[in-house]
Amino acid sequence: MIETVKVEIPTGEIKEYPIIIGENLLKDSGTFIKNHTKAQKVLVVTNKTVYSLYGETVKESLNKESIEYDFFILEDGEKYKNIESLEALWQKALELKLERKDAIIALGGGVTGDLTGFVAATYLRGIDFIQIPTTLLAQVDSSVGGKVAVNHKLGKNLIGAFYQPKLVLSDINTLSTLSVEELKVGLAEVIKYGFIEKSCNLLELNFNFINYLETKKDKIFALDLQTMSELIAYCCKLKARVVKQDEKEAGLRVILNFGHTIGHAVEKCSNYENINHGQAVAIGIKGAFYIAKGKNLIKEDYMNSALNLIDLYGLNYKIPAKISIENLMDAMLLDKKVESKRVRFVLPVNEGEVAIFNDVENSLIESVLKKLY
Ligand code: NAD
Ligand code: GLY
Repeated sequence: MIETVKVEIPTGEIKEYPIIIGENLLKDSGTFIKNHTKAQKVLVVTNKTVYSLYGETVKESLNKESIEYDFFILEDGEKYKNIESLEALWQKALELKLERKDAIIALGGGVTGDLTGFVAATYLRGIDFIQIPTTLLAQVDSSVGGKVAVNHKLGKNLIGAFYQPKLVLSDINTLSTLSVEELKVGLAEVIKYGFIEKSCNLLELNFNFINYLETKKDKIFALDLQTMSELIAYCCKLKARVVKQDEKEAGLRVILNFGHTIGHAVEKCSNYENINHGQAVAIGIKGAFYIAKGKNLIKEDYMNSALNLIDLYGLNYKIPAKISIENLMDAMLLDKKVESKRVRFVLPVNEGEVAIFNDVENSLIESVLKKLY
């Protein structure tokens, strides 16, 4: 079964690209690449883990289509989403004499996708780029919407661009080799979509995603192919609708950061070790619910059902004891999201609805943080 989600961005020239979601797509990746670019030659960027699992399948497909290719194999890990990797990739593209009509392909999770996308955005002022995401997080979030970046030693994702791919090819069979922990990183983002669903303005589809997630847990953890395909397609449709309204995060797109204000601070204070992005976002989502309750924005029932959903998916993580509230507050105040010394929060205001707030008192934030240990 294949689902195709269309992303449309009305910025002068219409940028539109498909997200193709289905089973066993990697074996035809060459054909998809051929159909979505004019590339004579492609550079496939991946990492050691993903290459050992899926490199051969992609190679065979490229051979079948007689597409000239080379692979660049990164070390595995967030720390390689850096300026050194970027330079090595520019060098590789130059040595291969890739031309504007050629293409760069990201095969892997969000780290590979973000880095490769930034290389594609900057090499020869922009070359065709295709995302082949292989983690749940990348299939529901990072491969869609064109945010590409590398980390700087002063912070995460500080050097980046908005650069849309020509195609996103999501083979759901690749999820079968993910560890449960990596699957749960993606599930934290999936649950996020439930809490922001109505604010995405995808009005023609009334999915009630929270309800869907409450009933489909077993199928999701079993990676039932039809359920995963439906779930990934719906998350992509929600994100595509937000990006269509606000590609460059001038307003609405901020809602995609629901749970990330506290989440990013937790990740930063743990030096991006011992606690992963999904765990930090899950903590941040709980924090957002507590803050919203503290500001009387939501009823207790809604908060409790949200906390239950987080529990149901095994995402009830705690802030590690060694991180102090003071450090978390400092991290939040130094974040990109701070305006006039007020931390910006996306908070629930109704079931599936959120709004953006710059007026949360520091005392409320601190009292909520205490509940998250
Ligand atoms: P990741 O790319 O590091 O992948 C997680 C781990 O899974 C890695 O060890 C990877 O080698 C392994 N892996 C990948 N595919 C696999 C597979 N099919 N089977 C087995 N193992 C596999 O991390 P991620 O969670 O995919 O992405 C995180 C990154 O995404 C962060 O850098 C974050 O900043 C970025 N991000 C970007 C956006 C965006 O909009 N651009 C959104 C969210 C997150
Ligand atoms: N992951 C947040 C965004 O794409 O805007």
